[in-house]
Amino acid sequence: MRMQGKVAIVTGAGSGIGRATALRLGAEGARVACADLSADGARATAKAIEGAGGQALALTVDVTDDAACARMVEQTLARFERLTTLVNSAGVRPVAPDPAPPADEWRRVVNVNLSGTYLPSRAALPALKASGSGSITNLASIYGLVGGSMAPSYAASKGGVANLTRQLALNWAPAVRVNCVCPGVIETPMTAELRKDPGWRESVLRKYPLGRFGQPEEIAAAILYLASDEAAYVTGVALPVDGGYTAI
Ligand SMILES: NC(=O)c1ccc[n+]([C@@H]2O[C@H](COP(=O)([O-])OP(=O)(O)OC[C@H]3O[C@@H](n4cnc5c(N)ncnc54)[C@H](O)[C@@H]3O)[C@@H](O)[C@H]2O)c1
Repeated sequence: MRMQGKVAIVTGAGSGIGRATALRLGAEGARVACADLSADGARATAKAIEGAGGQALALTVDVTDDAACARMVEQTLARFERLTTLVNSAGVRPVAPDPAPPADEWRRVVNVNLSGTYLPSRAALPALKASGSGSITNLASIYGLVGGSMAPSYAASKGGVANLTRQLALNWAPAVRVNCVCPGVIETPMTAELRKDPGWRESVLRKYPLGRFGQPEEIAAAILYLASDEAAYVTGVALPVDGGYTAI
């Protein structure tokens, strides 16, 4: 059990990568607060962890609301007494690829993806420090490392997450490690509509040396490593988990 004794908050735990991560951390012995804008999603993931013999808490949280982020940490401490691990997986993608999105769409995506990574991190900082082995793992993207998403808001938000990760790693060392993963296209509800289009699938898959999209569990495995004590000497990294996409 690689997360025995740990207490984690996973934002975006109601779906996709966040759900797979919460389940994996729970299976590895962590007690997990499952936070999501969707109350049903958070509850379903918490129930699945408990059904597998773990301990979990479901929280309804908007990660763009700093007061809600503070309450999320308070509720986790009230139930589990400590906090060692934060995974920021809540995120949104643009409604449609658009080379010049309107202001509202820009603000929505940057607010959830970038501010929604910083605000939970800031709220969790005192408790993570107090734990003696705190870590934060953020969800950036290949589009935080290179262009190509046809969505400037998404690319800017994820580039922001990657460099926010480096800056917080410097600011908050040595007490708290801060890293991010940069997934390629992963088969989650976020990409379901896009993946239905055979033309899109074919043109995108051609850019993946491993010839397929990723599974949420493959991202959860990388997050587990970064969040565990096996990565005790790792901070400030942006780890691509992308089937080789950024190697080209
Ligand atoms: N799926 C991919 O291909 C892919 C690739 C690279 C990066 N990512 C990133 O990984 C993260 C998870 O993506 P996913 O594919 O699991 O998406 P998803 O849509 O399956 O899940 C995202 C979850 O975030 C929640 N959420 C959205 N806004 C929120 C808010 N304001 N407050 C709290 N929760 C909120 C949603 O309710 C949902 O449960 C995102 O940050 C995404 O940008 C995904």
